[in-house]
Amino acid sequence: MRGLAYFCIVSAAVYALAGMAFGIVMAASHDHTLMTAHAHLNLLGWVSMAIYGLYYHAVPRAAETRLAKIHIGVATFGLWIMIPGIAMAVLGMTEGPAIVGSILTILGMLLFAARVAMAQRAIA
Ligand code: HEM
Ligand code: HEM
Repeated sequence: MRGLAYFCIVSAAVYALAGMAFGIVMAASHDHTLMTAHAHLNLLGWVSMAIYGLYYHAVPRAAETRLAKIHIGVATFGLWIMIPGIAMAVLGMTEGPAIVGSILTILGMLLFAARVAMAQRAIA
């Protein structure tokens, strides 16, 4: 494994470690207030990013395109903004970062869908 696929899998493992540590801290403290931030760090960071990585490993031709790099860049920045954003929203501070992060996250998924469709039809 190399390139973009490797980046995705390493990122996913880092997010899993952070998300699990977050879960352990929540469990140990008996304070589950930030459960939604924990859940989405694991689901978007670990699960979704790992799936992106496995896809790009399976279809190297798709991984070598600019669209694939933009997809992972948008998904990564979306996650970085969305997770603290969820925590801020839950804590009643502001909803702005959660909104921006969510939009980038869904945009990332849209780019992924486009990338998959184009690879399937051998457009690029
Ligand atoms: C060391 C590993 C983990 C620990 C200690 C942990 C701990 C927790 C805790 C304490 C909660 C709050 C439960 C509640 O208040 O009902 C929670 C919720 C949740 N966790 Fe984790 N977690 C871990 C790993 C993961 C992973 C790997 C995922 C996803 C791939 C995940 C997904 C979720 C989800 C979706 C919820 C929300 C569940 C609900 O809606 O009731 N967690 N976790
Ligand atoms: C743009 C992306 C996403 C947005 C904006 C979003 C938003 C939300 C919101 C608003 C909730 C309710 C939280 C609450 O009741 O306090 C929620 C819960 C949940 N979402 Fe998402 N979600 C996204 C992506 C995902 C993905 C990709 C998964 C799974 C792979 C997922 C799985 C869940 C689960 C399991 C829950 C229930 C656990 C919890 O309350 O934290 N979400 N999501």
